[in-house]
Amino acid sequence: MNETIKTILERRSIRKYKEEQIKDEELKLLLKAGAYAPNGMNKQLWHFTAVQNKAYIYTISNGTKVKMRTMDIPMYQERAKDPDYHVFFNAPTVIIVSHDGTPRTTTDSAMATENIVLAAHSLGIGSCIIGSFNLFIDTPEGQAFCETLKIPTGYKPMLSIAIGYSGMEHPQAPQRKDDVFTIIK
Ligand SMILES: Cc1cc2nc3c(=O)[nH]c(=O)nc-3n(C[C@H](O)[C@H](O)[C@H](O)COP(=O)(O)O)c2cc1C
Repeated sequence: MNETIKTILERRSIRKYKEEQIKDEELKLLLKAGAYAPNGMNKQLWHFTAVQNKAYIYTISNGTKVKMRTMDIPMYQERAKDPDYHVFFNAPTVIIVSHDGTPRTTTDSAMATENIVLAAHSLGIGSCIIGSFNLFIDTPEGQAFCETLKIPTGYKPMLSIAIGYSGMEHPQAPQRKDDVFTIIK
């Protein structure tokens, strides 16, 4: 199997990280991989924010848990109650992918996010895409925090990615459906 297919099939969401920070050169490669994703008309209306400030990462995690507590969703209630639950699983780096909201930019951001997680796996770095952080970002406090994070004005954070060296055994792939393909010849 070639290395690219191997990377795609082997990448898993990692939910436990070592404290050790990834190297700056590795972070730069991940950001570059994101920026090389296909995107509508090559307009590149996205922004990548790498957060390595532990207190800032905690603010987003805690703000998300506070919001989860107010929601009538059992899974969120469980997570919010757990003092050990950290939305980014204590990853030392979080990359936030934002877009300007014009047509196709949500797709562009998803493409960039996938590039980043695949690049991370190819470098021996763990990752987990985190959508729930938007529970906090969409609050007035979260919007104000976007300024602290220097998210460009008019850009909306869409996805975040927990990044770091894995602190767990590599997970088995969750079951994939096998009835989602149609081949028409
Ligand atoms: C858009 C999106 C949002 C996600 N949000 C979360 C999240 O908030 N928390 C989490 O633990 N995993 C999250 N995940 C990871 C998925 O749970 C994971 O990709 C899925 O279970 C398949 O497992 P795999 O990534 O190991 O193949 C998200 C994935 C995607 C694509």
